[in-house]
Amino acid sequence: MYKVYLVGFMGSGKSAIGRRLSYLLKMPYYDMDKEIVKMEKRSIPEIFEQEGEVYFRKIETEFLQNFRNESCIISTGGGVAMNEKNIQIMRKTGLVLYLDATFNDIWMRIKSDKNRPIVQTSTREELEQLYNRRRKFYKKAAHIIILTENRSLRQITEYAGYQVNRLKGE
Ligand code: S3P
Repeated sequence: MYKVYLVGFMGSGKSAIGRRLSYLLKMPYYDMDKEIVKMEKRSIPEIFEQEGEVYFRKIETEFLQNFRNESCIISTGGGVAMNEKNIQIMRKTGLVLYLDATFNDIWMRIKSDKNRPIVQTSTREELEQLYNRRRKFYKKAAHIIILTENRSLRQITEYAGYQVNRLKGE
């Protein structure tokens, strides 16, 4: 069993790359947020509103602990790598790739998003501070850091696929 985890800030392209990587490597793909929504039978904003962020973080860890005993690609939520236990689980069960995007690129992608509670309740400045605080955690979690600036989805996917194939054999 070998999992490939994509970590990074909201809007860094984890889902878009995850889907493409799944096709390239012929491994099933799962979007962690979507799996949590299915399990909980309610949206992420509803979970945050009804149960609070602490509950959501607990569900994320439970997901990582219990999710399918099979090789697959998983795009994680942007807060997953903030927790030491989550990092340990991911590194123990597979390869962690950090999609490192600039804050400007991220902001353009997430600014109008209604499905991300943290974007809804924060200003641009607050999000940029959160981005800066989180970067060291993503780096700590990752086996490989992939810079995404000025690269197409195709280039990023091919590079990620190359790294997975290279490290899988080790
Ligand atoms: C979050 C990121 C979201 C989702 C939730 C919280 C975060 O996932 O898990 O809204 O704390 O950064 P994406 O990174 O897929 O947007």
